[in-house]
Amino acid sequence: MKKFVVPSAASAARAAMARATATRASAVLACLLASVFAGVPASAGEEKVQIVAAPGVEQVRANCIACHSLDYIQMNSPFLDRKGWEAAITKMEKAFAAPIKAEDKEAMLNYLSTNYGKK
Ligand code: HEC
Repeated sequence: MKKFVVPSAASAARAAMARATATRASAVLACLLASVFAGVPASAGEEKVQIVAAPGVEQVRANCIACHSLDYIQMNSPFLDRKGWEAAITKMEKAFAAPIKAEDKEAMLNYLSTNYGKK
């Protein structure tokens, strides 16, 4: 009887360790993937993301690609209506000191809410 105790405890420990290793491995993998994806737009050097060609697109290109990829616009289109986009542009200016041209704002807002506005 006694000799079964040790192996089963050991195998429980092994199983626990296997679980811990698997968790760690997937956490590491998630980190790696995140850094790989985060690195793509930054290291690409030129803008690869295609956004809709429509009035206002030039203003958006001119004001919005200095710091991050235009996929930020695509990613947020399910969530932002015109007010939301206005707040996003204000946040870029206030929080990140984006040099956004005042005269371009109206065109950008029209563009963003028409082409990337929350439906
Ligand atoms: C001065 C740099 C800069 C400029 C220029 C800039 N952004 Fe950003 N933007 C940021 C930073 C920094 C973040 C947040 C950090 C991150 O997640 O990478 C961000 C995040 C975003 C996000 C994600 C949501 C959020 O609020 O964090 C959206 C949408 C966005 N920017 C849209 C725009 C648009 C539209 C323009 C042009 C009008 C623009 N950005 C111009 C720096 C900038």
